[in-house]
Amino acid sequence: MDKMDKDSASKFQYISHSIDDTYNLAAQIAKYIKGGEVILLNGDLGTGKTAFTKGLALAMGVEETVTSPTFTFMKEYEGARLSLYHFDMYRAQDGDELYELGLNDYLYMDGVCVIEWNKFEGISNAIVVDIQVLDDGSRKFEISGMDGDICADIAGRF
Ligand SMILES: Nc1ncnc2c1ncn2[C@@H]1O[C@H](COP(=O)(O)OP(=O)(O)OP(=O)(O)O)[C@@H](O)[C@H]1O
Ligand SMILES: [Mg+2]
Repeated sequence: MDKMDKDSASKFQYISHSIDDTYNLAAQIAKYIKGGEVILLNGDLGTGKTAFTKGLALAMGVEETVTSPTFTFMKEYEGARLSLYHFDMYRAQDGDELYELGLNDYLYMDGVCVIEWNKFEGISNAIVVDIQVLDDGSRKFEISGMDGDICADIAGRF
């Protein structure tokens, strides 16, 4: 398989018709999380970034309720096996403000970083989740950056 094939293979789409669908997608992805991953959530206001994070947290065994970390930029949750670092950078001026707070350190920890409205620069090897609201109100999730075999596994389960 050449690089182009591999790139196109390591992407999949999922149409979510409800919050439960979104939780289910996040739970399928959570099965492959080993620790150290960065997940970038891209999508307009109210598309379901936090909903996805709540589903991920649930699947990781987080018992605390996940709420948007709007003013602190990041909230930390203890999962059964791994910590979840939930970022929402909507109100951050730019990456510098986050670096000054030392929040970039979390990118290198064993837990999982989930980032809404990313303003860090130069993140590589992230799992990228692009979310779009479709005309009928359903959400189109496009997931890239996971291993091709994993994508095929997850896509095959829906
Ligand atoms: N299929 C779906 N998946 C997720 N959320 C959905 C879905 N259908 C409708 N919703 C609704 O969309 C809203 C998503 O809100 P959420 O806070 O997750 O968005 P967000 O992308 O985090 O927004 P923000 O950019 O403001 O942080 C919720 O009110 C939820 O009930
Ligand atoms: Mg949100």
